Amino acid sequence: MINVVFVASEAAPFAKTGGLADVAGSLPKALNQGTIDGQPVNVKVFMPLHVKISPSFRDQMTYLGFTTVNMGWRTQYVGLLTLRYDGVDYYFIDNEFYFKRHALYGDGDDAERYIYFSKAVLAALKMIELKPEIIHTNDWHAASVNVLLDYYRKHDPFYQGIKTVFTIHNLRYQGVFDPYIMGDLLNLPYEYYHEERLKFYENINILKGGIVFSDHITTVSKSYAHEITYPYFGENLDGIINKYSHKLTGIVNGIDYDVYDPETDSNLPVHYTVTDLSNKKIIKKQVQERFGLPVNPDVPMLSIISRLADMKGLDLVQHILDELLTLDVQLVVLGTGEKRYEDLFKHYQYMHPNKLSARIFFDQHESHLIYAASDLFLMPSLFEPCGLSQLIALRYGTIPVVRQIGGLKDTVIPYNKYTGEGTGFGFMNYNAHELLFTIKEALEYFKDPVAWPKLMTQAMQADHSWETSSKEYLSIYASLLRKA
Ligand code: GLC
Repeated sequence: MINVVFVASEAAPFAKTGGLADVAGSLPKALNQGTIDGQPVNVKVFMPLHVKISPSFRDQMTYLGFTTVNMGWRTQYVGLLTLRYDGVDYYFIDNEFYFKRHALYGDGDDAERYIYFSKAVLAALKMIELKPEIIHTNDWHAASVNVLLDYYRKHDPFYQGIKTVFTIHNLRYQGVFDPYIMGDLLNLPYEYYHEERLKFYENINILKGGIVFSDHITTVSKSYAHEITYPYFGENLDGIINKYSHKLTGIVNGIDYDVYDPETDSNLPVHYTVTDLSNKKIIKKQVQERFGLPVNPDVPMLSIISRLADMKGLDLVQHILDELLTLDVQLVVLGTGEKRYEDLFKHYQYMHPNKLSARIFFDQHESHLIYAASDLFLMPSLFEPCGLSQLIALRYGTIPVVRQIGGLKDTVIPYNKYTGEGTGFGFMNYNAHELLFTIKEALEYFKDPVAWPKLMTQAMQADHSWETSSKEYLSIYASLLRKA
């Protein structure tokens, strides 16, 4: 048995703010199906016991015991609970001081909360005498694990020999803090405060520590792995990424094909398959009724399901919204985020109630309905490490219009009118009118009774399950285990 400990600050369905949670909630399940050199793999997921984890899950958890960690001069409690869900063992780090908070991030003491979390995971492993072959951490919130392990290995035989993998889901969030945390929270000697280690200008950069101190680094698509070696996408870390590019691999994300399946999805009133798409129109009709849009199967329905954040390219949408809404289209927007975008879509809904429906909240059930009902899915991101929404759209036969960068480039094949190949539409430059022209091009094909159904079929047939990608992770684990 190969034991892997997978560490993330969030995992669906327990707590979710973004795509990291979807990956942490689906990749371990896929990894558990695999083997390494003939041996079964057992992935255990460690995450904080966030207060928002619902009582229905809490009631099923088993308490395993407690230990403590030192945070500067304070000794902090580490409770450990476990729950088996969908074939995966989840372990929850309990400390109300750090995790009985309204928000997962952004309270001003993120450094302390997530360094605590990283220390607590390492302490909990020792408490339950679980020495894994591999620890796989995700994003800066868990990257202190890799840094601490480098030190612990030298001082405590329990931690010796554990290999580490670190996955970057978004290079923009790095965990940059004042150097005082070095001694006070990480309790590491000052030799770690060095340009080649954690030092980043005059600060500490925890994600940089994850890069330096991991045996292998991955990011969530091949194109993004390449892009972040350049200054434009490198977020001031391209230098260090280049230095360690020999241990960097891009592995595109998958989605859970059991959760996202138009044939069985319990969120949908009726179901459809790649061989019979007729019910998709019925769902569109119901969504039009529910959202107060004119009921008309022939009007193309465009959708955006997204955090309303700058990186999602919404300023491009803003720029062309007037022009877009002069066309014979309907636009449905679901999500929350920056106030200026929430206000923008509410305003346009007020101005064009027959064309735009702004759902400024997040609702899982409604998101599935919109994926299924729409004809086109817009995702013009400024940068996109992988992106999961376009994968869900493809699975539901909803044609993505994307900017061809990062994971969007790797997962959406632009339609080729000569060969008929492709699964969506794409544009290159971060330019609002390129987006508009690409939407217009897609709308031309929407009217084509031969090309469009073919595109939908091809989109639905593209395989974005975890099947292939999980094997790539397993082969990285295997190669690390072969090294002394
Ligand atoms: C982050 C990235 C997104 C990626 C997700 C899961 O949210 O922004 O592109 O799909 O992580 O890896």
